Amino acid sequence: MRGTLNASVVLFSLLRTFTVLASAQQPFQYGEMSAPQYTLPSLPYAYDALEPHISAQIMELHHSKHHQTYITNLNAALKTQAEAVHSSDITSQVSLQRAIKFNAGGHINHSLFWQNLAPASSSEAKSSAAPELLRQINSTWSDEDEFKEAFNAALLGIQGSGWGWLIKVEVGKEQRLAIVTTKDQDPVVGMGEVPIFGVDMWEHAYYLQYQNGKAAYVKNIWNVINWKTAEDRYLGSRADALSVLKASI
Ligand SMILES: *[C@@H]1O[C@H](CO)[C@@H](O)[C@H](O)[C@H]1NC(C)=O
Ligand SMILES: *[C@@H]1O[C@H](CO)[C@@H](O)[C@H](O)[C@H]1NC(C)=O
Ligand SMILES: [Fe+2]
Repeated sequence: MRGTLNASVVLFSLLRTFTVLASAQQPFQYGEMSAPQYTLPSLPYAYDALEPHISAQIMELHHSKHHQTYITNLNAALKTQAEAVHSSDITSQVSLQRAIKFNAGGHINHSLFWQNLAPASSSEAKSSAAPELLRQINSTWSDEDEFKEAFNAALLGIQGSGWGWLIKVEVGKEQRLAIVTTKDQDPVVGMGEVPIFGVDMWEHAYYLQYQNGKAAYVKNIWNVINWKTAEDRYLGSRADALSVLKASI
């Protein structure tokens, strides 16, 4: 498990990807004070599709309110930033960085999260949908159960709000898996890192249904992990994993 230090590099590079993605679709024209505007990606399943493991009420609030709020605030901050750049107001530009980082992080995380969940009865929710990933999980943690135990321990070790991720780390031709947890403002994935799946440990992700029963949430989330998405991300690149963001500009 890794601390938070690496993580700053990470969001920075993600934000850069983000801006590149944005400008590919919609040129960033400071002169006209325009800024990229993001929209809420729709869920690949219905709000009640993850029941009984995650209630429809949680899914609807989490997606239509919490995720939407990150996007609304991100768009507002980007617009204000474009204006600040236009008027050479460097003080405002600096003070906007925190809001941009936080809200872009929320948008990225949630976009990845929805895609890495699937209805429990679907074939995607079976780990057999991820044969290559499973092979590497086996060689890293000895088997799937030990891996899940390690992941759950990491999730339950998060103090306050945060996320747990399984990531693929690429160093030259080598690749390995790692479990990382991050808090508050830390980013998801740096250069050379591919998010395989993430679990949201903010209270808004489970509280209405599980109250303080974090361990039950963490146990049940395995019923709705989308192993097909996990396998695709494992076999693909960082850009592939983040391509969901392109659709939301
Ligand atoms: C996004 O995920 C990162 C990495 O796990 C986390 O540190 C950060 O708090 C998340 N941002 C939000 C707004 O949830
Ligand atoms: C992973 O290990 C388990 C337990 O040893 C084994 O049953 C399973 O077939 C292995 N899966 C893969 C994809 O290697
Ligand atoms: Fe969330």
